[in-house]
Amino acid sequence: MRLVSEGPSPRLNAMCGIVGYVGQRSSSEVLMSGLARLEYRGYDSAGVAIVSDSGSLVSHKRAGKLGVLAEDLANSPLESGSTGIAHTRWATHGAPTDANAHPHLADDGKLALIHNGIIENFHELKEQLVASGETFSSDTDSEVAAVLLGIAYRESRDLTQAMVNVVGRLEGAFTLLIVHEDAPGVVVGARRNSPLVIGVGEGENFLGSDVAAFVAYTHKALALGQDQIVTITKDSIDVMSFEGEVVHPPEFTIDWDASAADKGGWSSFMAKEISEEPEAVANTLRGRLSPEGEVTIPELDSLDVSLIDRVIFIACGTAAYAAMLGAYAMEKWSGIPVTVELSHEFRYRDPVVGAGTLVVSVSQSGETMDTLMAVRYANELGAQTLAICNTQGATIPRESDATLYTHAGPEVAVASTKAFLSQTIAVYLLGLYLGGHRGFVSAELAAQTAQDLHNLPGQIQEMVSTGPRIKELAGWMADTRSVLYLGRHVGYPVALEGALKLKELAYIHAEGFAAGELKHGPIALIEPGQIVFVMVPSPRDPSSLHNKVVSNIQEIRARGARVIAIAEKGDAAVLPYADEVIAIPPASPFMEPLLSVVPLHIFGMELAAAKGLDIDQPRNLAKSVTVE
Ligand code: AGP
Repeated sequence: MRLVSEGPSPRLNAMCGIVGYVGQRSSSEVLMSGLARLEYRGYDSAGVAIVSDSGSLVSHKRAGKLGVLAEDLANSPLESGSTGIAHTRWATHGAPTDANAHPHLADDGKLALIHNGIIENFHELKEQLVASGETFSSDTDSEVAAVLLGIAYRESRDLTQAMVNVVGRLEGAFTLLIVHEDAPGVVVGARRNSPLVIGVGEGENFLGSDVAAFVAYTHKALALGQDQIVTITKDSIDVMSFEGEVVHPPEFTIDWDASAADKGGWSSFMAKEISEEPEAVANTLRGRLSPEGEVTIPELDSLDVSLIDRVIFIACGTAAYAAMLGAYAMEKWSGIPVTVELSHEFRYRDPVVGAGTLVVSVSQSGETMDTLMAVRYANELGAQTLAICNTQGATIPRESDATLYTHAGPEVAVASTKAFLSQTIAVYLLGLYLGGHRGFVSAELAAQTAQDLHNLPGQIQEMVSTGPRIKELAGWMADTRSVLYLGRHVGYPVALEGALKLKELAYIHAEGFAAGELKHGPIALIEPGQIVFVMVPSPRDPSSLHNKVVSNIQEIRARGARVIAIAEKGDAAVLPYADEVIAIPPASPFMEPLLSVVPLHIFGMELAAAKGLDIDQPRNLAKSVTVE
């Protein structure tokens, strides 16, 4: 189903934070702390609605950051109540205003609604409602849903039935939560193409756009599926399909705690998450790879490996570069043809896909709409689908035949760092797994690779400690306007990843190239002072790549480039031609890229810091792009 909006785009409510609560606590405290843990999703307005203990619906909403709302609520607190919903909205069309913030009210202010997504047919619904005398206080698509639900509740006097009666009339992507002052102790939610998970407590229950909303209160969660409605009270959780059939959602345990989602004293989430890169790699490997190189991943048992004659990766951004990097090793270890496609390109192509094709999505959030729609397309085409994902209970894993979780822990900073390394390792494990099943990996190669992988966290830690030196470099370059990144073979995806980090963090034009492309055009960009990072392959590598890249460095140096080489310790061939060398410990060709990417992550962060920019929430970006 293609989400195509007619007429002026509705005020989109993409990438929002959603929290719902019923229990014994002050819902205001639970709701605001939940929104705080969802801040990383990117937003520009926030609001809460509570069914108070005195039986009235009270609400407040403000444009701006959560602090603006919190200050208002501190100065004039809402009446207390143990039932409530809360929302952070990330408007992608039109300035965020108090009026357009959520919650939206209806039924004479007795019903409150919050919404994440896009209601595609809101124009015709609104015209019908206006024609029947309804009035609106905003021009959002969300308010149309609120008014419809207010009318439905007046007719049914049952909040769940009201939701059942309305969701069938809505088209597009939406997560909706509603409360009504005549239904204290009840929150009803519905989801289509947009995330919603359930937190299971003792005498209390939660709803959230992801588990971060309630992980401080419970580690027990239920994954709500597509086109499902959930009704929570403090002692019950009832789930049904949009058609009213009872559903029993799968339960899962959140494997990280609230402190993991805190900054823990770091200057930014990104700094914290770079420091976690060694541990993230160790966690992805844990329990899955024996010293002999035998891969054990029970989650993959649901795949029919014997059918697989081709692998297509689908992903966006950093996740796509991790797939590109992993694909080099996977093809070599498994003997299966592997290609990598951007999700939003795959989806509109006519790929030759069938039962023999394994389509592997790579997504940290598991909610990227471009990738979710591509997964659905792959399922329609009859492929087997595997999700490599970092977020339990996310939508993409639920719509895939199998899931390989990366277990990197929450990644809060918008710019992805530790997830890149974990995703690459997950692809390596998949390559060894498939190679092992096909008898394509020799015992010695498997054992050697296992040893290389188990050595990796320690070597990554060594690269994390280059931070101070990288910070100095960044300080010198704070006013640079353009940086190029060159890499060959497995160095090429690293060049793309390094460039993306600089674009999204320091807002600087940066471009990653395959070094071999230089002479086919890009070398025209080289002028005196042009900064170029070069990923240099190991001189121990029997291929001629090392010498070719050293020649590339000579070519750009001859034209005045300032070269920062990321090269193996002791690589004397590079020294005469590089202005700066960042040394990495000797490692095998497939492991070195996971070392050379670390200084590039640090460089992006430090250059943004040198420019005084928001490191964790760069402008125009959100952590999870849940619209196409
Ligand atoms: C990476 O730093 C960016 N934030 C972005 O490219 C991201 O990797 C991409 O949007 C994919 O996100 P996902 O892994 O959650 O699907």
